Order: sequence, then structure tokens, then C-alpha cells
Amino acid sequence: MSAPSSFYLTTPIYYVNDAPHIGHAYTTVAADVITRWHRQRQEPVWFLTGTDEHGQKVMRTADANGVSPQEWADRLVESAWKPVLTTLDAANDDFIRTTQERHTTRVQAFIQDLYDKGEIYAGSYEGPYCVGCEEYKLPGELVAGTGEFEGQQVCAIHGRPVEMLSEQNYFFRMSAYTQRLLDFYEANPTFVQPASARNEVLSFVRQGLQDLSISRNTFDWGIPIPWDTTHVLYVWFDALLNYATAVGLDSTDPADQELFARTWPADVHLVGKDILRFHAVIWPAMLMAAGLELPRQVFAHGWLLVGGEKMSKTKLTGIAPNQIIDHFGSDAFRYYFLRAIPFGQDGSFSWEDLAARYNAELANGFGNLASRVAAMVGKYFDGVLPVGGAPGEAEEAVSAVAETAVVDSEAAMDRLALHEAISSVWTLVEATNGYLTEQAPWSVAKAEVRDDGTYSADGRLATILVTAAESLRALAVLLHPVMPRATQSLWELLGAEAVLGTLGSQPVADAARFGQLPAGTVVTKGASLFPRLEDPTEA
Ligand code: MSP
Repeated sequence: MSAPSSFYLTTPIYYVNDAPHIGHAYTTVAADVITRWHRQRQEPVWFLTGTDEHGQKVMRTADANGVSPQEWADRLVESAWKPVLTTLDAANDDFIRTTQERHTTRVQAFIQDLYDKGEIYAGSYEGPYCVGCEEYKLPGELVAGTGEFEGQQVCAIHGRPVEMLSEQNYFFRMSAYTQRLLDFYEANPTFVQPASARNEVLSFVRQGLQDLSISRNTFDWGIPIPWDTTHVLYVWFDALLNYATAVGLDSTDPADQELFARTWPADVHLVGKDILRFHAVIWPAMLMAAGLELPRQVFAHGWLLVGGEKMSKTKLTGIAPNQIIDHFGSDAFRYYFLRAIPFGQDGSFSWEDLAARYNAELANGFGNLASRVAAMVGKYFDGVLPVGGAPGEAEEAVSAVAETAVVDSEAAMDRLALHEAISSVWTLVEATNGYLTEQAPWSVAKAEVRDDGTYSADGRLATILVTAAESLRALAVLLHPVMPRATQSLWELLGAEAVLGTLGSQPVADAARFGQLPAGTVVTKGASLFPRLEDPTEA
């Protein structure tokens, strides 16, 4: 029997010429939240990330540092790219490196097959090449340089001069796929998302595609072309194939074959908008040529901007994820970038905005709600959840908000509107805070207190606290994909693990069903989910 198909999502594989900055972390965190959400739905998931290690950009950095490209790649992967996944709390299932044998041999088999099918031919090419993009540019794509590059034509993304290259190359007959791609986009309107990205791709392909140079022979840091080892494969052709090689493309090993069968085709390739065309044009053309099924979606997110420009190491505007996480924690990092920037659009990062949201939404909004409820269950019921009475109108209203939050966040997640999904869940934080303010359990307690200082287990006070605890239970489930640490603490504070099982095993679809925490559940105060912080700009 074949295994059920997995929700398969990928990040781009990152260049190892430098260490990660928060722009890279943004792609990884978004991918992690989406895959955790699918896991929380109790679906099988496969989440792949990794590193792109060949090409001129990496080779030059290694040269400049006086080590071989392989040594450089090993060093960066171990010291920076793998550790950042832990820093970000990313729960990837696999990590592919393009220098691994499982990748290089399968890539060689793939291109040999295209060559044998007549999809690749020898030719020559001359044109401007941007090493930052690892791409030949069309003259019309260049812009006038500024500052030290005044008077020169530069790459629009990197702002640096291009190099004129003239080489003998092998070419992939991509021009032959223009119409097939247009037909495919037409038949699959959600293949490229969001709409702005789809429009960009459509207008680019409608101009007609050129054949693509897929080999280089002026340097040797790449996968050798099997029928002509004086050439190495163009780094993008090599890199794109990671999505298939990592899940066992053409492997004869039964375990790989099983993985391929349940993951392929990928559900979502998550990419930054700068690398959209590679994924939405070249990659599907490669797969068409090989006769493989195409991915279901390529989603392009926007850029993190600094001073209105894409944050980048080249422009010295990169901020390392640790600079933020050491102070605010990984949950706040994950929450902030996905909540503050509509997913698919550009957004500017500012310390002030992050600190303001941390205080208002996380510390005062969500964290304080949890502390207040736990403290009151402690104070009035010795930390043991009471039975609670029949829900009234106000309680019904809170559980109705929870139900809507589940429906809306599910729908938003399916559209990858991550900011909307979080906002939908947040309606429950706000409604529960509002409910507590209105119901004022501290006043109800004064009215209901018995002579011996205890409270009825099914009076109003008990009902209010049970309702608030149920709301927190639902929030722990719905926010677990976004903030795995704080929600785990909340789950422990609610005593939920002992009565309901692990947080990860709670289905999203069931989150809004109130009445799950039984009377007798032991609630503890625990540490603050989001401690108040000093202003980092003054630290
Ligand atoms: N190696 C290629 C991808 C190959 S995928 C088959 C590459 N690597 S990269 O390291 O330069 O970029 C990886 C990802 O980081 C891209 O999705 C890119 O958009 C993202 N970001 C890099 N800087 C960014 C910002 N300033 N803002 C948001 N994302 C950015 O391209």
C-alpha cells in the first residue's frame, strides 16, 4: 500500500557565500509556520531546506578567504546555515546540500537524459552576467549605476556592475516551451501567486523565451556535464533540481522511491520575488522537458527593506537573526515578521515597531491574558480548574469568535495570507481580554465568596475562568505553528498535556470546541510567556 501523500513545501536553497541575515530567515520562518500549520492539521508534511553551494559567487568568496570552495561551504553550513535553523526553531525534515552525492549524481542523470532527448545543444553566448544573481542579463534589464559605479551599467537588484562574458556553452531549448508554459499558467491560475507575481511571469513569458545557457567552462566549481567534463552545469539548473533530488528523484533505493511517491510533485515552492522567474519559468520548463509532474504552486514573498532597498549583505544592510532573537526571543521574531508584513508584499523592519508590537500584542495582549487567568485559577480555586456552569450569552459569544477564528485562519493559510491567518486568530485574544474586562471575575469573586473563603465550582466565577481557560487552550493550538515555545509553555501552564496529550497532536479543526479541559485540571502560574523588556535601542 502506498503512503498517503505529504504536503511538500520547500524554501530556496541559500547561497553559502555569506552567513544568513533576516531576509533569508524570513523565507525560512514563513515556510516553517506553513508546514507547522499543516502538521497541526494532522497532515503528513515534508519540509525541505538547504544550501546552494556551487557557482562563481561561492567560488570567489572562498578564493578571497584563501580556502577551497568545498572547505568554505562546509564551514558556512556548519557554523551558520544549520545553526540558524535551530535559532529560528525551524522544524525542517531534511537539509540538502548541492555538493552531496545524492544530489550531484541525480543531477547528472537528469541532464544526460535531457541531452539524450535532444533538449540540449552546443552553442555560444555573449552577454552581461551578474555574479550576484548568477544570471545572464538582457541589456534592457540593466540600470545606471550610482555612487562608486556612476557611469556604469549595473544589475538592478545588486546595484553592482555586470561582467561581459563570451563563452561556448550548452543550451537548453527553453524557447520551445513558451506556449506550453502559457497554456499551463492558463489552466492553473494559482500556480504562480500572489496575483502580482503571476502577472509579472505572464508578461515575461508572453514576450517569448530564449534558449538558456546551462553550462560554463571558464571555471570548475560545479557539477561536471557528463558528456563534456570541460564544462560545469549552470548553478541555477543545478540548484533548482534540489527539490527533486532531495526527495529521491530516480533513485533505485526503495526508501527514496517511497519518499518521492509521497512528496512529488511539491505543493509549494516558497521563494523571494527576486528569484521568481527561475522557479516559475525555468523550473517548470525543465520538468516538462523531463516529463515530470509540475509543482502545484510557486509563491513569491516580498523583500525586507532597509532604507527602501532590499536588505542585503552586499549593501551592508544585513541584520543577523541573532541580533533580534537574543533580545526578543524566536517566538517574537516569527510573530513579528509574519504579522507586520502582508505576506507577498515588501515591508520595512524597524526596532521601534518590533518593540511596540512586542509590548502591546505579545506581552500585554496574549502573555498577560495567560498570566491573569492562571493567577485567578490559582487564587480562587487553588490552581484546580472548576466545573463551571452552563454557558450564557457572553460565553457563547467567546466560543463563536473561536469558531470564526478557526474557519478564517484555515482559509487564510490555504491562500498563504499568513498575516491574515494570524490576525484571525488574534480576534480570540482580543475577545477573551474584552470578555474578562466585561465580566470582571475579580468583582464576581467578591460577590460569590463563601464564608469559608471558597467559591462554588459551578457559579459565575467558575464559568468565567473555565471559559477563559478554554480560550487559552484554543489559542495554544492555533498559535503553536507561529510561536512554538510560548504556546508549549502555555500548554504546560494549563496542565493540558496530562489530560489532552501533546500540543502537537491537537487538530486545528477541533480547536474551537470548548469544554475540552476537564474539571480537576491542574493550572499553574508559570513564568511570563513574554516578559516585559527594556528598550533594545537603549540597551
Ligand atoms: N541560491 C539561490 C536560490 C536557489 S533555489 C533553487 C538564492 N539564494 S539567496 O541566499 O540569495 O536567497 C535565498 C532567499 O532569501 C530568496 O528567497 C531571497 O528572496 C531571500 N532573501 C534574501 N534577501 C532578502 C530580503 N532582503 N528580504 C526577503 N527575502 C530575501 O537566491
